[in-house]
Amino acid sequence: MPSSVTSCRFLARLVLLVSTIAPPVSAAEPRRETSPAPKGYLCPHAPAGVTVDGRLDDPAWADAPWTDDFVDIEGDHRPRPQFRTRAKLLWDEDYFYVAAELEEPHVWANLTAHDSVIFQDNDFEIFIDPDGDNHAYFEVEINARNTEWDLFLPIPYRDGGRAVDSWEIPGLKSATHVTGTLNDPSDRDRSWTVELAIPWRALAGHANRPTPPHPGDRWRVNFSRVEWDVTTEGGTYKKVPGKREDNWVWSPQGAVDMHRPERWGYVEFRDRVVRSTPFRPDPTGPARDAAMEVYHAQKAYRATHKAWAGSLAALGLAGASRFAGVGRPVLRLVGDGFEASVVLDARNGEPRRTVTVRQDSRLTVEPSVP
Ligand SMILES: *[C@@H]1O[C@H](CO)[C@@H](O)[C@H](O)[C@H]1NC(C)=O
Ligand SMILES: *[C@@H]1O[C@H](CO)[C@@H](O)[C@H](O)[C@H]1NC(C)=O
Repeated sequence: MPSSVTSCRFLARLVLLVSTIAPPVSAAEPRRETSPAPKGYLCPHAPAGVTVDGRLDDPAWADAPWTDDFVDIEGDHRPRPQFRTRAKLLWDEDYFYVAAELEEPHVWANLTAHDSVIFQDNDFEIFIDPDGDNHAYFEVEINARNTEWDLFLPIPYRDGGRAVDSWEIPGLKSATHVTGTLNDPSDRDRSWTVELAIPWRALAGHANRPTPPHPGDRWRVNFSRVEWDVTTEGGTYKKVPGKREDNWVWSPQGAVDMHRPERWGYVEFRDRVVRSTPFRPDPTGPARDAAMEVYHAQKAYRATHKAWAGSLAALGLAGASRFAGVGRPVLRLVGDGFEASVVLDARNGEPRRTVTVRQDSRLTVEPSVP
């Protein structure tokens, strides 16, 4: 969400970020962020396409597994979401298909103008970072009335980026279906469903990956749902004043911030999906985590000292690496910023690789995945 328009949510996030991430880092007490490994999804190919009508009854959807139920964005210490949310994915040569089911006793939506700030209504949101470098990612938000907001983020907000609101997905197909009644508080509803077909050619310009993907390619993707508390007084739904929205996601991140692409899941495009094949975690995951640990420690250090740290010791990260198969990071000050590189040992048939992160959170992997 663009920082200019998102005020509340952005501020709430900022307050949270500042309060959870900014305490001064002392050498004695290094900051330790232990996040669960991002989830993986094996995305089946849909040989006969999908009819986008908001109903998930195309035979192809039967082949696509549901994701895990969404959880609170901050993690397991927060109450489980009241209502279930889950998603499914498919692909073919032309489109990336996304379906979602949002259990909801009170389906409402007000916004009807394309590119409105959709999370002011209850919504479903999709995030896509094709090359997993934390930069150049796409976002689509949709409400129960099928009003969408499509955005391109060259750089995450945390690194000073601004959303490109004028970016559009030509040929985007979307539909919603309400099982119940829209904007009618006099009854209880069951759910709403979303069906989207995102044309690969709309992503091609910024994907930095083949579009359509090759079977076996993996893209970083995430989903979230925004849910406002409403009352049903006087025949209309009204937001409960002064209450922040809930954010429910595919899996938790530890902060109210969807714009941390390094925490998103992996979608692997398959020509066919064998149900018993487990998802193989990203072998570069521990090196990415180690590099991002330096990045977050640097951001915290800079908030206090108004400068980047020149050594791991200053960041409290001078000890042996706690990430499997990963050497100690090498930190260099470069121009106005820094670079931290982490070497991942060759093993299990994987080549030796170097993961590097910059001050603007851009991650690169060399040699890159073929
Ligand atoms: C939707 O819009 C109507 C008309 O402006 C308003 O009365 C209602 O409270 C809005 N619903 C919510 C949940 O904000
Ligand atoms: C999705 O994003 C949220 C917020 O950034 C994060 O908590 C969660 O881990 C991500 N999901 C996956 C599957 O990585």
